Amino acid sequence: MQKVHINLFILSLAFSFSVAAQEDWSRNNTCKYSYEANDGLINKLLSQMSLEQKVGQVMQGDLDFISPADVKKFHIGSVLNGGNTAPNGDKYSTADDWKKLSKEFYDASVEIDGIKIPILWGTDAVHGHNNLIGATLFPHNIGLGATGNPALLKEIGEAIALEVLSTGVAWTFAPTIAVPQDDRWGRTYEGFSENPELVAKLGHAMILGLQGEDEEFLDQNHVIATAKHFMGDGGTLNGVDQANTVVSDVELREIHGHPYFQALDACAQTVMASFNSINGSKMHGDKDLLTGILKDKMQFDGFVVGDWNGHGQVKNCSNVNCAQAFNAGVDMFMVPENWKLLLKNTMRQVKSGEIPAQRLDDAVKRILTVKSRMGLLDGRVPHEFEGNYLGHPDHLALARQAVRESLVLLKNNNQMLPLNPVSHIGVIGEAANKISSQAGGWTITWQGRDNKNSDFLNTKTIFESLEEFISSAGGTIEFSTNGSFAIDPDYVIGVFGEEPYAEMLGDLKNISFEATDPTYLPILEALTATDTPIVSLFLSGRPLEVNQYINASEAFVAAWLPGTAVEGISDVIFLKNDEIQFDFKGKLSYSWPKLKTQGVLNSHNEFYDPLFPLAYGLNYQSKTHLPNIALERPSRKIESVNIFLGAAAIPGQEFILSKSGPEFVSADEFSSQDKNIVISRFDYLRQDDAKNFIFTNSNVMQGFGVSTKAPLDITPMRSPYYEIIMRVNETEGAPLFFNVTCGAACQGTVQLPSTKLNSWGTISVPVSCLEKDGLDTSKIQVRSLLFSMGAINFDLHSIAIKDGTVSGSKVSC
Ligand code: BGC
Ligand code: BGC
Repeated sequence: MQKVHINLFILSLAFSFSVAAQEDWSRNNTCKYSYEANDGLINKLLSQMSLEQKVGQVMQGDLDFISPADVKKFHIGSVLNGGNTAPNGDKYSTADDWKKLSKEFYDASVEIDGIKIPILWGTDAVHGHNNLIGATLFPHNIGLGATGNPALLKEIGEAIALEVLSTGVAWTFAPTIAVPQDDRWGRTYEGFSENPELVAKLGHAMILGLQGEDEEFLDQNHVIATAKHFMGDGGTLNGVDQANTVVSDVELREIHGHPYFQALDACAQTVMASFNSINGSKMHGDKDLLTGILKDKMQFDGFVVGDWNGHGQVKNCSNVNCAQAFNAGVDMFMVPENWKLLLKNTMRQVKSGEIPAQRLDDAVKRILTVKSRMGLLDGRVPHEFEGNYLGHPDHLALARQAVRESLVLLKNNNQMLPLNPVSHIGVIGEAANKISSQAGGWTITWQGRDNKNSDFLNTKTIFESLEEFISSAGGTIEFSTNGSFAIDPDYVIGVFGEEPYAEMLGDLKNISFEATDPTYLPILEALTATDTPIVSLFLSGRPLEVNQYINASEAFVAAWLPGTAVEGISDVIFLKNDEIQFDFKGKLSYSWPKLKTQGVLNSHNEFYDPLFPLAYGLNYQSKTHLPNIALERPSRKIESVNIFLGAAAIPGQEFILSKSGPEFVSADEFSSQDKNIVISRFDYLRQDDAKNFIFTNSNVMQGFGVSTKAPLDITPMRSPYYEIIMRVNETEGAPLFFNVTCGAACQGTVQLPSTKLNSWGTISVPVSCLEKDGLDTSKIQVRSLLFSMGAINFDLHSIAIKDGTVSGSKVSC
């Protein structure tokens, strides 16, 4: 314990040199609204509203679970579309479908004495209006961080506002102004930088762009922004999403709190409470931080919206019951599904005095104030916004500029770049042909993994964009899946990186890049061995240890998650008519690791030994030659391997086995072609951390598995066992089997013990039992397969391989 304290102390000392320190939390609110809220009207409305109407204002349900009729009946004040929700439950819904639904909600909104209080619809437009097909997808925040260009971010904010408005929506849950301190965190790419100053500067610019400023503040062309997630989301221990952030007061203010000063100076109208805890106390229930600091000391005068059932994580609370969160300062509950019950309980708590009437009035007043500043109480009608700016040419051009400025050149030995396009150019890497890899999470769907190229409009794959440029310049291009080419290329462009993920599903155990395609690195190294010069374009949501890949490349570019306008890459890497068109401008906004243990690697940390430091980035003037990076001896130690946690862990791919054979599962809600296997997701301990499986056939093998292309070697583990946390709801009696394979005719299977119906349990399968049955643990391929020969309905929370003493009911063999 003492050691921790000393480190934190040193850290905060070191810190006060690099950041313009904020003396304490006090802030003077200098926001002047061109369009002041109509206080007289708001007070009048408040005095006329019934208890039901007030409590309705503070509820926000998700489109999948709330209809316009509900809104009318329960006087609901807000709705959202979550990352997986779209009007009519259809991701292909058009802007007109969105507007139509917006109108229905508007019409259903509460009216007091002839005055309508329009509903506010919020959406996660976090890199463009990303839930909508055809919207311009800007680089994710990590890429925008590398541009370091506030003027550009402001323009991007303005563009996003217009695209959001084009669908009848007036509120975005953006920007994220987290300051990620451990890049294993699955949301690192949502943050601009590890450096609080840079986050503050860019967050400020983005908010000004979204909301407008001065006489343009929240005018017809702007939307309400959200500074999120207050606070400490980027500081959780080991980078585990939603976990505990252990910090001193100084660190809290100077790292995680720092960007909120400028966000409030930009007059952000809403702040989203964070899922994480601060020193053990869940943010959603922390009155000192939400009310004492944010509202009182920092003089935040908008409203606090909760995060997705975040209140349910507060001690002694559930998703449908949480006076503490409201009393602590959450003004609007984000309660996607069970809003009806929460509404009922909240009403009861106001009646009993558990929630003071003044607290409810304060929350409603804050919400009405923001609605009023938006003009909604004076006749502004979101769905009547004219025009459709989705994918507007100006926005595509802006996105292209952002891509150009976000690229960070990490290695350029022998001045390999800029490239001459009048050549024969080879391309390798399946990411070059997959738009989802360049778009990342929070794209059309929450995880962004299940989108096809045809789901994107106005968007080329990286290969297509290179091809277009090269052929217009007079060169030729050839893609190879195995590294051999019809014509010997003058050089090769390799495109690879992380598969999309969002939130906790992107959390990593260490910061080393784990390729989904095991053939890629061998191909790369084989090409290097033949002296073919290679430029690598790395697509990722964070810096990762990729030493082998860097060594095998003559030039290496961190391209982050660029989104739509990948033509921006060609703008920079190629000469045009023998001239440099655009030089590299991007600078690392996160330090780059040289060791896979460097998940925590920030320029203000005590021990700082990065491969490339913060703000690193070469350009065409640099002559830096990067020698080969010494490789760590591959550590044979494996502590545990996650296979499934509500969804397949990266790099796993889910599949089902049914009568019609194996089939990949590409969406959270899934029904097999023959409809005999139905899968749906739900919340067990956290959101979306479990799936339900219904196998309906008798006497047929039906199963659910997770496989990977790269074989897994767990031989370094001493006494490995599989831990499965699941529950059987219904069964016709046929047993469940657990199977792991290691290639053709190589596998191990055990029968699982029957568990008590309808109750969650932990089942442990010693790997030795699978070995007895023939499993070779040096080359596991199908990492897990649960199957049965009979109809069964079960829920699965997690599957992991652990080492040591087993827990739960153990399979014996
Ligand atoms: C929703 C997302 C949400 C996530 C919870 C998903 O089902 O669509 O919007 O963020 O659950 O983390
Ligand atoms: C995320 C938020 C997001 C919300 C709504 C949550 O899971 O943490 O960032 O705004 O879902 O989709």
